[in-house]
Amino acid sequence: MSAAREHWGSRFGFIMAAAGSAVGIGNIWRFPYTTGNNGGGAFLLIYLAMVLGFGIALATAEMLVGRSAQRNPVGAFRILGGKGWPLVGYAGALTGFVILSFYIIVAGWTLAYIWLMASGQLHTTDPEQLNQVFGSFVADPVRPIAYSALFMGLTAWIVAGGIAHGIERWNKVLMPSLFIILLVLVARSLTLPGGMAGVEFYLKPDFSKVTAHTFYDAIAQVFFSLSIGMGTLLTYGSYLSKNEHLPKAALTVAMIDTGVAVLAGLMIMPAVFAFGFNPSAGPGLTFVTLPAVFASMPGGDLFGVLFFSLLAIAALTSAISILEPMVSYFVDEHAASRHKTVIIASLVCFALGIPASLSFGLTAGFTIAGKNWFDLMDFLANNIMLPLGGLLTAIFVGWVWKDAVKELRNQGALSLRWAPLWLLVLRFLAPLGILWIMLSALFG
Ligand code: PHE
Repeated sequence: MSAAREHWGSRFGFIMAAAGSAVGIGNIWRFPYTTGNNGGGAFLLIYLAMVLGFGIALATAEMLVGRSAQRNPVGAFRILGGKGWPLVGYAGALTGFVILSFYIIVAGWTLAYIWLMASGQLHTTDPEQLNQVFGSFVADPVRPIAYSALFMGLTAWIVAGGIAHGIERWNKVLMPSLFIILLVLVARSLTLPGGMAGVEFYLKPDFSKVTAHTFYDAIAQVFFSLSIGMGTLLTYGSYLSKNEHLPKAALTVAMIDTGVAVLAGLMIMPAVFAFGFNPSAGPGLTFVTLPAVFASMPGGDLFGVLFFSLLAIAALTSAISILEPMVSYFVDEHAASRHKTVIIASLVCFALGIPASLSFGLTAGFTIAGKNWFDLMDFLANNIMLPLGGLLTAIFVGWVWKDAVKELRNQGALSLRWAPLWLLVLRFLAPLGILWIMLSALFG
């Protein structure tokens, strides 16, 4: 079985794929408004501390498990851990379905907005009017679902191509395009007169806004943004050969991911301030405020199309990485065909997306614990399932899997020097920190 396992064609390809997974809607849509609402630079500092404190260690751990076992998450935990541990892999697959069910909805909106932008239908500087356009679009029972079907189809098509010829090939084209578009947009935004006020709002620390919830938001953002806790990095690691230097790869991916998140804010906030719009618009910042910003700007239609294309690319390279672990599970463990598995898994994800989309319209009144279906899935995945998956992975690699350090040591001097610290983080800092933050936010 494993003899025929596909591998990445190059180191660059693997890094682009892992960075593609990390850089997503989380960076461009969620990070800027979460930072804006949580005290700007204060949130950024807490976030950075968490990425350095345990994000990189956990990303390394996940990739190491995959690389050593050369298997999907369920198989990897079975081979290395035995009894009980495959449950972590199954939980990860379940998390993947939950995430994709809402991810493809937002991704579908971005596809729709490329079209609305290009056809001039968003050409107004009145946020009220744009709010209505957005509200009636997301509440529509058909259009957003059709766009999410299109997006799911694209994702499935790439994953069906396999590792080197599908996932890697597309990431190698899409990620560099994403960086170029991002830099063009950041340069445009920062050179607008009055934009500096946005930079100040975004980066100036305001510690009075920091509460227990800020830490919870930060931890959820670390997991979601770095794609930790559901087996994505584990699966991508399983397509690596033994000589890849994992801590360096994890550090590179974390730097790219954090860099893009910070740049996303520097792309959005200065433009919002330059034209006098409200920076605290929350999730609507992207789909309501930004079109008004583009309409105020010379050549704004073009920048708008570029922006929503950027978001769609980021979403696509992430969605691929959420689908792949489930596919690799069926291919490894049940000798299923990749094509058939991709089609079936995508149809299931699409079906699960329908209630998420309808919760903005038809079923908006139906809530559980005050949350509609979309928010509930989002909350479950980000605030509970991913941190829990990360916690269990840390415990597994730190305490249960005896060969962890030996496997890491195979990779040369740097890992050797950092190995004790890495183990310390996995054994104590990460599990206790994650538990403490989750409990104090949920019950505090
Ligand atoms: N990291 C992606 C983002 O920021 C989302 C993601 C989560 C991808 C979990 C894979 C696994 O949008």
